[in-house]
This record gives sequence, C-alpha cells and structure tokens, in this order.
Amino acid sequence: MRKKLVAGNWKMNKNHPEGISLVKEIMAGSESLQKENACWEAVFCPPYFLVQACADLVKDSAHFSAGAQNCHPADQGAFTGEISARMIADMGASNVIIGHSERRQYFHEDDVFLLEKLNAALRCGLKPIFCCGETLMEREAGTQLSVVEQQLAATVFRLDPAAFQSCVIAYEPVWAIGTGLTASTEQAQEMHAYIRKLIEGRFGSEVAGQSLILYGGSCNASNAASLFSCPDVDGGLIGGASLKAADFISIIAAAAAHPGGCQ
Ligand code: PGA
Repeated sequence: MRKKLVAGNWKMNKNHPEGISLVKEIMAGSESLQKENACWEAVFCPPYFLVQACADLVKDSAHFSAGAQNCHPADQGAFTGEISARMIADMGASNVIIGHSERRQYFHEDDVFLLEKLNAALRCGLKPIFCCGETLMEREAGTQLSVVEQQLAATVFRLDPAAFQSCVIAYEPVWAIGTGLTASTEQAQEMHAYIRKLIEGRFGSEVAGQSLILYGGSCNASNAASLFSCPDVDGGLIGGASLKAADFISIIAAAAAHPGGCQ
C-alpha cells in the first residue's frame, strides 16, 4: 500500500545552524503525527554540506530520512565540484533528487545523463526522486502529456522493474515551480493518473499500484490538503514551503490526514 511522502527540496538555502534548527523544529513540531502506524514519511533534501548532519538527526526516526538534491554518476574521479551517489549514500542519506527542472535548465542535464545518475543512485542503494514536467509553453500548446511521457520513456522506463520500484516520480510542472502558480487539483490528478497508466503499460498494474507519484510546484500549507486528496497524488516535493518549520509541519499534517491507499 502507498504511504504519503513529503520531500523538502531546500535548494541552495540555509547555513549549518539554520539547517540543524529547521530539522529539529520540524521533527519536534510533528511529534503528535508520528504514530506507530502513521502512513506518511518525510525526507529532508538540504544542500550537500548538510546531508550528513541531517542524516545523523533522523537516523532513529521511523518517519524522517535525509536525501540530496543531485549526484554525479561516477563513484569517484576527476570531476571538480561534483559529489557521487556513493558519497551521498555513505553519509547516511536514503534518497536523491534526479532530473529537477532547474538542473535540466541551468546545468543542461539531458535524459542520457539523468539515466546514468539513476543507475548510479540505484547501484548505491539510494532511492531516486525523479522529476518530470512540462514548461508553460508546452502546456499552452496542449503537449504536456506527451512531454512527460517522453521524459519518462527516456529515463526511468529504461530501468528494469525491480530498479524502477525503488524510484519515486515527482511531477513538477515547470510553470508552477517557485512561481506561486499551482496546478489545479484537476490538472494534477489528470497528469498523475496518466503517469500511473504509463507505468502500468511499461511495468504492469501491480508496480503501478505501488508507485509513488509526488506533486511539486508551489505546493504549500494552504493547498497541500486538496492536492493530497487526489487519488493519484501520493505526496509532494516541496521547495519554498520546506524552508519554514510551521509550513512544512502543516504539509506533513495534510499528508497524515490523507493516507490514500495505506489504511
Ligand atoms: P516550489 O519548488 O515548491 O518552491 O515551487 C518545488 C521544487 O522545485 O521542487
């Protein structure tokens, strides 16, 4: 059964003391939601230099884990400024975001490179949170379904079924990221149901029924509950609202209140 998942993508924000207090505040402030059979999990994805500290803070938690925002596919070598999936796993992280639209846009990461990263992450035991989503122009042209289909076909759909089952998909319409514009519940549900249908076509209905598909793009404390009530929305990838403890706690509460297929 699917548990709701809320992942906080801090992007390039927070220094060391700020990051530590944010994690502590969120963990303490969500204590009443951390029941034994609770059907939610949350992942902190801070900048690299905070991954180890976050992983240490969450290591005894049944609900929280740590992740990174990117990785390099090689285990080691002459790649100045990069960090490998192996190093991220060694820090105690469990997830890594791959294919975020900011990586695709600003760092020109293409599908071939993203597939290499997926394979590296999986080889190191990390669970990728793989992002897909259309631009405003593509939505206005009505091509969003085929754009997302192509992004998945060139990457996660090339994995074998067991590897794919370790991946989480995050649908993030580019026009909604950091803009305050959110996909409507109808737009989100339509795309998530479509992605699940594509997964079913590629890997079968059992895998499709178990796959987590997160929504990202200006998801916040006010709209999380309605987005998470959509049958195919299994949680969120949260940027701006993951940087404030009260907001992230409210989003976790929304996930806990909409356990989906878990209960
Ligand atoms: P946002 O970012 O919540 O600030 O729109 C989401 C993301 O980029 O993952």
